[in-house]
Order: sequence, then structure tokens, then C-alpha cells
Amino acid sequence: MNEIKIKDLILDNKVLVGPMAGVSDISFRSCVAPLKPGLIYSEMISSKGIVYDNQRTKDMCIIEDHEGPVALQLFGNTIEDMVEAAIYIDQNTKASVIDINMGCPVHKVVKGNGGASLMKDIQLAQDIVYNIVQNVSLPISVKIRTGWDQESINCVELAQAVESAGASLIAIHGRTRSQMYTGSVNLDLIKAVKEAVTIPVFGNGDIKTAEDAINMLEITGVDGVMVARQVMRDPWIVEKIKAAINHETYVDVTTEIKLEWLRNHFLTMCHYLGEDVAVKKMRGLAAQFASGLDGGKKLKAPLVRMQSLEEFDRIVTEYKLEKSEKL
Ligand SMILES: Cc1cc2nc3c(=O)[nH]c(=O)nc-3n(C[C@H](O)[C@H](O)[C@H](O)COP(=O)(O)O)c2cc1C
Repeated sequence: MNEIKIKDLILDNKVLVGPMAGVSDISFRSCVAPLKPGLIYSEMISSKGIVYDNQRTKDMCIIEDHEGPVALQLFGNTIEDMVEAAIYIDQNTKASVIDINMGCPVHKVVKGNGGASLMKDIQLAQDIVYNIVQNVSLPISVKIRTGWDQESINCVELAQAVESAGASLIAIHGRTRSQMYTGSVNLDLIKAVKEAVTIPVFGNGDIKTAEDAINMLEITGVDGVMVARQVMRDPWIVEKIKAAINHETYVDVTTEIKLEWLRNHFLTMCHYLGEDVAVKKMRGLAAQFASGLDGGKKLKAPLVRMQSLEEFDRIVTEYKLEKSEKL
């Protein structure tokens, strides 16, 4: 049984694509959509930006029909802003879920007491979730870490607090805020959270292969997994994990198809952002993607310096030619 019910929403499968600021915009989500994750998260969206009627922030809330189920993720630190922003999303967007960011470690967000710093104030975190739940009809998910630092691990307590406030799903990245992305993911704590609540829990952190996902599921007993960085390098990880969960064999797509996907992502970005902005954004993304390709190192260096879509095509053609000569 792969379906997961969160409030009135049925997720088709147990593989979620996690939020990534600067990455999970409408073009990335549109291109990942055909791989059919159970749910894909937006990049974090400022509740204050919505409250102050900032057009750029509101544009981040736009979802197209072809995207499949999307969770729009909010960050903020006051009940008033978070509730007003959640009501805006509930009433004006095509979001399937509203997610509350309680895990973001970056200074810009935590210095304003948003993101992971909400883990330091469980009462405020609970009040934010409670008040949002009382005012919107969409299901609410919460994304947390294991705690602020090693001395203040409180994910179990926080998970119970947000569940009692009415949250419908928890995704937990198995690191503290202080760890950022260092050290290993603590599967014991993810397991403890899963055992402490009755709402679906998704385990997150360092899933790079289908085997990593199966490990996470088996060791922690979580209902599903959330993958973030690996989707940038290899979007087909979504299909690979789904196949492994269903005990199906997965045949990886060819490099040709992978590069077509990347080009389509680039074109989609040009459509939404214009070529100038898309090129700048694509440099970093293409480099990540190249690191997931066989012999991709060669591709990476020119891609981070490219100036246009035309140059992208030339670099990719040269790479393919060189690859075919080696066969
Ligand atoms: C570039 C980047 C941006 C991220 N932005 C967000 C964000 O906006 N909100 C959030 O909750 N987590 C964010 N994260 C954290 C990821 O969602 C995820 O929890 C983390 O990368 C661990 O999962 P992974 O090992 O599968 O990447 C970001 C991570 C990266 C690498």
C-alpha cells in the first residue's frame, strides 16, 4: 500500500521532493512533475513578503495545473504573519499542502527567529501551527530537524506539539541546525519521532540511492522519504525509489534522455524568467546535474561559465560527441 492520506489529500506514493531555495521554483517543479513524486515542495516563501503584498513573493506561490501536488512552504516567526500568509495560500493558490519551515539553518532566516529557530520555542511553533490549522482548509505539514544543537535535541517533543496542534504530516531532516549538512543523519531520532506520533512521518537526509531510501524506511519505520539534493543531480531518483519500494527492477534512462531533460529545464526557465536570468540560475544547477552524469566532470567546467542557451547546446553537443567517440 503506497498511498498516504493527509487530511483529505491522498498522496499516490511515499516519495516526496524536498524544498530547496533557489532551486524548487515553478520550472524545476514542472520538469520533475512527470516523474510523479507523491508531493513536491516549493522553495521557502516569506510570510512577511505575502503580508506586505510583495509581488515577487506572491509570484512564488503560482502553481500550474501540470505540476501535480505541490506543498508551498512558508517561513516566518509570528503567528499573525504566518496565519495571514497561510490564508492567502489557502484561498488564492493551487497548493495541495501548506508546509511550515522549522528546519532552515541559514543565518538570514534564523536571525529573524524563523526556520530552525522555531525549534527553540516549541510553544510558539505549536501556536503557529494551531492558529494556521484553525484558519485554513488545506492540510498542514511541518519540516523539522532533530533540534537546534546536540545539547537541545527536541524533535520528539516538537513533533508531538505540532501533531496536537493539528499538523497532518511531519518531514524530519535527521540533523541538528548546528550540523547544517555535516556529520551523519541520525536515524534513531527519526525513528523516535515516527514512534511518537500518529500522523505520517517522512525521513529526510542524505538519500542518494534507492538503497538509501529503503534503509531509511526499514530502519526508522517512517511512512515515506523526502529527497532534496539528489533530485538536482538525478531527478530519476524519484522513479528509482518508487520502483525499489514496489520491488520492481529499474532500468536507468540514457544519458541522451538525461541531457534532454536538462535542456527542457533550461527552456522552461527561459520561459518563466527570460534567458538572462535563466542562464545565471542554470549555471549552478547544470553543474549539479553534470555531477550525476557519467564523465560529467568535463561538462561541469564549461557549464558554470556558459553565457547562453546556444552555448549550452554547443557544450552538450561536444560532450556527446566525445562520449560517442570513446565507445
Ligand atoms: C540549495 C538548498 C536549498 C534548500 N532550501 C530549503 C528550503 O527552502 N526549505 C527547507 O525546509 N529546506 C531547505 N533545504 C533543505 C532540504 O530540503 C533538505 O532538508 C536537505 O538538503 C537534506 O536532504 P537531502 O540530503 O536529500 O538533500 C535546502 C537544501 C539545499 C541543498
